Amino acid sequence: MAKDEHKAKDHNAAKKEAFLDGAYRINTTDDARAFYDAWANSYDDEITTNGYLTPLRCARALAQAADDLTRPMLDIGCGTGISGLAMVEAGFTTIDGSDLSEEMLDKAKTKGVYRNLWQADLKQPFPFATGTYHYLAAIGVIATGHMPPETIPRLVNLLDQGGFMVFSLNDHTLENPDFEANLHTLVDNKTITILFEEYGDHLPGIGLKSKIFILKRN
Ligand SMILES: C[S@@+](CC[C@H](N)C(=O)[O-])C[C@H]1O[C@@H](n2cnc3c(N)ncnc32)[C@H](O)[C@@H]1O
Repeated sequence: MAKDEHKAKDHNAAKKEAFLDGAYRINTTDDARAFYDAWANSYDDEITTNGYLTPLRCARALAQAADDLTRPMLDIGCGTGISGLAMVEAGFTTIDGSDLSEEMLDKAKTKGVYRNLWQADLKQPFPFATGTYHYLAAIGVIATGHMPPETIPRLVNLLDQGGFMVFSLNDHTLENPDFEANLHTLVDNKTITILFEEYGDHLPGIGLKSKIFILKRN
């Protein structure tokens, strides 16, 4: 390989790592929007290369727990649609998606798995009524710098009795005890039951793991 080709390859590798690393240094909503707009073109390639497993784990676990796979789901922070695709492959049929980044949503559209897609900052009040969705999925999105710990009770409050929620918390996010503390408050006051909890591979390519949870609204 010519010297210039080596240089170009090294540069691309460095650029790829820079995106994944950068995702764990986001601080504000504006940072997140700009970051994911810029990442949209190479997101699927980079995270697939690193063996992204959390959507598959979440979709399979939710399908096992679910009562009727045709009832509507919202994929919150759907990104390029990898999470929606995993849900369809697990058998769910009616999925809407929402995300902050228009560029990520454009990629999600091309997956052809969503009934509706809409842009929203989900740190703001959620633009749909309680009970609209029987399933809420937040995969790789409740995270430090993305959506704060209080997102967990905010989402649970949008479920009718018997509704389900699946979400993941990666290793970086698990370092902040407030995420799981919010969850355990909901268990203690009997708002939810945790049906499934599993710590496993998230992005094995960079040695990162995640905990996934399936909740049911009491
Ligand atoms: C790591 S990606 C996960 C995407 C997808 N769920 C997946 O598993 O591939 C995180 C997503 O959260 C979105 N996001 C970050 N902050 C957000 C916010 N405040 N409101 C809505 N979406 C947000 C980003 O635009 C990005 O698409």
